[in-house]
Amino acid sequence: MDSLNRHEDYGQEALEEGHLLDDPIAQFQSWLIDAEAAKIYEPNAFVLGTVGTDDQPRSRTVLLKGVDNRGFFFASNFLSRKGEALEHNNKVSGVFGWYSMYRQVLIQGVAEKVGPSESDEYHASRPHDSQVAAWSSNQSSPIASRQALDAQFDQALERFADKDVPRPEFWGGYRIIPSRIEFWKGRSNRMHDRIEYLRTLSPDGSHSAWVIQRLQP
Ligand SMILES: Cc1cc2nc3c(=O)[nH]c(=O)nc-3n(C[C@H](O)[C@H](O)[C@H](O)COP(=O)(O)O)c2cc1C
Repeated sequence: MDSLNRHEDYGQEALEEGHLLDDPIAQFQSWLIDAEAAKIYEPNAFVLGTVGTDDQPRSRTVLLKGVDNRGFFFASNFLSRKGEALEHNNKVSGVFGWYSMYRQVLIQGVAEKVGPSESDEYHASRPHDSQVAAWSSNQSSPIASRQALDAQFDQALERFADKDVPRPEFWGGYRIIPSRIEFWKGRSNRMHDRIEYLRTLSPDGSHSAWVIQRLQP
């Protein structure tokens, strides 16, 4: 396990306040485009952290499917472990780890279910098999065997053969409304750059302006 003893040099490219956009969402979009250009595999994958009903944090990877001034959009099963967790506590974290670029983005905020029409629209944009799969899995529940899982999928395929697949009401989109977004850039000597944007979210949906601060590595 050579990787445990490696000490990579993360290079000299700097992250300077003067080069960052005032709006962290625009800055994020620019880094996502860079990650795509760098051919990062699944550049839109991020690790979503939630807090469960037992107050235990849990993380898993999901795919970002939209990002704009409203926040970060992803889709999942509302009855999954993450869905249950989000019902209990809507505070979340997210990690985009673009390690080969020596870059990381951390987000914190609250996740809200999007409206049914937005979930419908996203569901309608997915390939047929993905739509069927949404019906075929009680995500996060135990199942006796792979065979049983395949049987569930086959039954759903049959049910929706040559038909439009409606969105299951237990599946759809969430949007993370960010309160903190941190851009991390690895530097030599472990003196990394960290620039954090933070704002206060109010329960009525209003928020303060973004404040930018540099953090020690
Ligand atoms: C690259 C990658 C992308 C994934 N994208 C999603 C996704 O967009 N939505 C989703 O529900 N699960 C996605 N998963 C599966 C989740 O990591 C996880 O296994 C699943 O959502 C169940 O999590 P939970 O039991 O904590 O709710 C993805 C996994 C990987 C590795």
